[in-house]
Amino acid sequence: MDFKTKLIHAGVKIDPQTGSILTPIYQSTTFVQKSVDEYLSKGYSYSRSANPTVRALEEKLTMLEGGYDCTCYSTGMAAIQAVLQSCLSAGDHAVVSDVAYGGTYRLCTKVYERFGVEFTFVDSASPKAVHNAIRDNTRLIFTETPANPTLKLTDIRAISDIAQLKKIPHAVDNTFLTPYYQRPLEIGADLVIHSTTKFFDGHNATVGGAVIAGSQNLDEAIRFIQNASGVIMSPWVAWLTLQGTKTLSVRLDQQSANAQEVARFLENHPKVKMVAYPGLESFKQHELAKSQSDGFGSVLSFEVNGGIESGKSLMDSVQLCALAENLGSVETLITHPATMTHADIEESERKRIGIKDGLVRLSVGLEDPIDIIADLEQALKGV
Ligand SMILES: Cc1ncc(COP(=O)(O)O)c(C=O)c1O
Repeated sequence: MDFKTKLIHAGVKIDPQTGSILTPIYQSTTFVQKSVDEYLSKGYSYSRSANPTVRALEEKLTMLEGGYDCTCYSTGMAAIQAVLQSCLSAGDHAVVSDVAYGGTYRLCTKVYERFGVEFTFVDSASPKAVHNAIRDNTRLIFTETPANPTLKLTDIRAISDIAQLKKIPHAVDNTFLTPYYQRPLEIGADLVIHSTTKFFDGHNATVGGAVIAGSQNLDEAIRFIQNASGVIMSPWVAWLTLQGTKTLSVRLDQQSANAQEVARFLENHPKVKMVAYPGLESFKQHELAKSQSDGFGSVLSFEVNGGIESGKSLMDSVQLCALAENLGSVETLITHPATMTHADIEESERKRIGIKDGLVRLSVGLEDPIDIIADLEQALKGV
């Protein structure tokens, strides 16, 4: 099946009882067994361990990423937590992209460090820096690319080569591009993570997460954590995410085309100091973006002249763009990372990794780009 056909059909079976074309919402805790000897003969016993609606989504995401299997979670953070728990124990060390979603940094530094796990946050755009950060006790390399919110890219193949040589799993947070544009497992990564809250859902309706493992060993270790800790996805969320996923390719293509237009507009605006969008020729890693992904995505960030006050004033003046934390939805959302999504990162660390006070993140939606640009233009007048 072609990727776009998989988006519609992979993992979905016509309901044998009723012919329902949509996978039903199996809102049931419990699945009755035929006999002790035939325990689990239909595959399900208790919804913390497995649920048929969630399973349909897991099978779809496995096929889309080209993995061995997938586990789904209550949020993207729960998915990241399952990866950390399955790969790391007290005394272990992990190498993590210095630019990543703020919640990832918070989970590592405020939770896992308390349990004796050590982290090095490294410029993962530099394979040499990643290589140099590896220690004898390193058990995980975790990268996010493109990274939230600066869009910095990691060369997935180069880091996976290092990981393979050192026999350390490489996990990639692929939330920003989804497998429609980027498939890390095909170029050497071992695990792929998603906040399904973003592009898979696409409609600001749910929070959810997924981990797609490239091998049976890793999948079993993660599935054990999922069941043991109970950080599962609900059947309702899985059902909504299944519907959202069907339109992923058309949404992402159009939103990315819109983002390209908005990025060009911002790049030529006198009040804008800098625009980071992998689709722009001026983007430092534009060639890497072209070589490892099939599209540039719909998220960009930019800095307005005048620092934090100008950034805040812009965000308070937009009318169509919504001032909100999410990304990847059909609505255009605007965010101030320093005070919102990345507020838990210490100021000095934020500055070091390029999350300036005046940085604005824009997740471009499905509205007509003419209207998005007109809104930004009127808001920029007051800056
Ligand atoms: C790249 C990335 N990964 C993970 C997450 C966490 O996902 P969730 O909010 O679903 O827990 C986010 C949230 O913004 C994100 O942007």
